[in-house]
Amino acid sequence: MSKIYDLVANAKVNIFLKVCGTYPNGYHRLFMLMQEIGLGDEITLELGDVSSSPAISIVSEADCPPEKDLCYKAAKLFYDNYSGDLQDIKITEVKHTPSQAGLGGGSSDAAAVLKTLQSHYGNPFDEETLLNMAARLGADVPFFLYGGSCFCEGIGEIVTPVPSLAGLPMILIKPSVGVSTPACFKAVDSEPITFDEPSYKEFMEKVFNSSDDALNRVIHAKAMLTNDLQKPAVNGVPLIAECVSALDDSGAVFAMMSGSGSCSFGIYASDEERDKAYDKISGDTRFTECSIYKVETK
Ligand code: C5P
Repeated sequence: MSKIYDLVANAKVNIFLKVCGTYPNGYHRLFMLMQEIGLGDEITLELGDVSSSPAISIVSEADCPPEKDLCYKAAKLFYDNYSGDLQDIKITEVKHTPSQAGLGGGSSDAAAVLKTLQSHYGNPFDEETLLNMAARLGADVPFFLYGGSCFCEGIGEIVTPVPSLAGLPMILIKPSVGVSTPACFKAVDSEPITFDEPSYKEFMEKVFNSSDDALNRVIHAKAMLTNDLQKPAVNGVPLIAECVSALDDSGAVFAMMSGSGSCSFGIYASDEERDKAYDKISGDTRFTECSIYKVETK
């Protein structure tokens, strides 16, 4: 029997991102706090007839061959590993999350497909297997199986939920030009790792597992919240530094670049403060070519 799922695949920001080391395959060992936000792509899954050679089709405005599309890859990976009867699947994507932004748009879409197929086919895979499948699709995909607020370690595949930081008002500024994630990670290799990882971890675990309200947890950790990819990203796209300062100057309690950029975010103490800041930043001619979003943490 055919079935349609209408999904919203929300994006994320990194409240902090620390590079802790490098693996032999060149990937980096990270410690991050990932936070779901209320900006996402619309993904529709239409599961049709059972077939001995099920077709996976993609309908998308994105200029990307289907085999390179992360939703296609997610469905294919699931179908290659599931041994029961499979249905034809049509995936329609309406993208709202900008790409090359550090917001995990494609990764979230892929996780939405994996999660939905997992429940549609009666949870055939255990949690660890699903997490491994997610990590094969991309380092940010495991987080999106959970969403909300999570520490992510390893390359991103070790996911530990923390008490929710939902409801914080935010502004995002996305320059029209993006940042290459591999180039950004490569650039940090020339920087020595100087921070004390165990004490940093202990501090962050204490703050973000505390019973303080969400805003106070962020304020408490503020002096320690950094993104190690921001400096190399700013070297490539200097406008990112202006975006972060403009967010700071507009009254954000905390502002930073997300992931490998080029999107920056500011967190505000109230909707009123955020709305005032939005008006100011939207009128700033330095950001005419940028996309500016009002969102909140989820
Ligand atoms: O896994 P994903 O395809 O999202 O990663 C994109 C690129 O980011 C990788 O090719 C790699 O260069 C870099 N990366 C990394 N360490 C991580 C995650 C990503 O070096 N933990």
